[in-house]
Parts: sequence; C-alpha cells; structure tokens
Amino acid sequence: VEETLVLVKPDGVARNLTGEILRRIEAKGYSLVDVRMLQADRDLLAKHYAEHEGKPFYEPLVEFMESGPIVALRVAGNRVIEGFRSLAGATDPTTAAPGTIRGDLARDWGLKVQQNLVHGSDSPESAQRELALWFD
Ligand code: GTP
Ligand code: MG
Repeated sequence: VEETLVLVKPDGVARNLTGEILRRIEAKGYSLVDVRMLQADRDLLAKHYAEHEGKPFYEPLVEFMESGPIVALRVAGNRVIEGFRSLAGATDPTTAAPGTIRGDLARDWGLKVQQNLVHGSDSPESAQRELALWFD
C-alpha cells in the first residue's frame, strides 16, 4: 500500500491544529503508521526543500520551518499521495477550496504564504525520499 510524508508545520502545531489535521486524515480512511515530533534543523530542511533552493521564498520558508516544532506523520493508504494533496488543498491558503485543510483552517497572514499548515509529498519518488529523511 502507498505511503506519504505529511508534516504538520510549525503554524499547525502552534495553533493546536495537530489533532484536527490527524482527524481529517483518519476520517478519510488513511492509516497512521508512524509519528514523530521534532524541531527540524537547517540540514534536514535544506535536504527536504532542495528543489526550492534559490527561489525567492526559500529562505523565509526554511526560517519558518525552523521556528518551532513539527509533527511528522507516515501515512498509508490507497493512492494516499494524491489523496492527501487533495485533502490539503491548494498551496495558497487564500485560494484553497473550502473543505480542505488549508481552505478551512489556514488564512493569508500577509507575506507569509508558507504558513499553510501542512506538507504532503507530491509523487512516489518524493515520498520515498522524504520518508527516508524524516524517519530514517
Ligand atoms: P508542500 O506540501 O508544503 O510541499 O506544498 P506545495 O507542494 O503545495 O508547495 P511547493 O512544494 O510548491 O512549495 C513548498 C512550500 O513553499 C509551500 O507549502 C509554501 O509553504 C512555500 N511556498 C511555495 N510557493 C511560495 C511562494 O510563492 N511564496 C511563499 N512565501 N511561500 C511559498
Ligand atoms: Mg511541495
């Protein structure tokens, strides 16, 4: 069965939304395989966001992700990679559809588009790579 990496980003943990996000994942029928709470260091984040290095939002994104604890989830289910992306909604909280995690629970805080509560792997290759990074 397919697995994906979900991160509850520092804004989600700080806003006490970890339970609500987990509830939505489990209610959809996906299974929690492993969970870890950690403060990510720069080395881990640089590897995680390697594809975004050099983009204008890279530095603020890494700084934000370093700013507080993250809850990392190994989630399993049929087509869970695509399914969780759909549950999460569009990257920008302002335009994310109602009914999605970002659409319902995140808002635009100004320039901080990165505060969109969750991360989900975007392909089987990313999932494998990211799960190895966050869970060894
Ligand atoms: P993730 O599941 O977090 O990877 O989100 P995504 O796949 O919807 O977005 P993407 O991988 O393109 O970007 C990774 C993260 O960078 C996003 O979740 C945002 O937090 C942040 N990000 C992406 N684009 C922008 C942008 O234009 N401005 C800012 N400030 N942040 C961005
Ligand atoms: Mg992405």
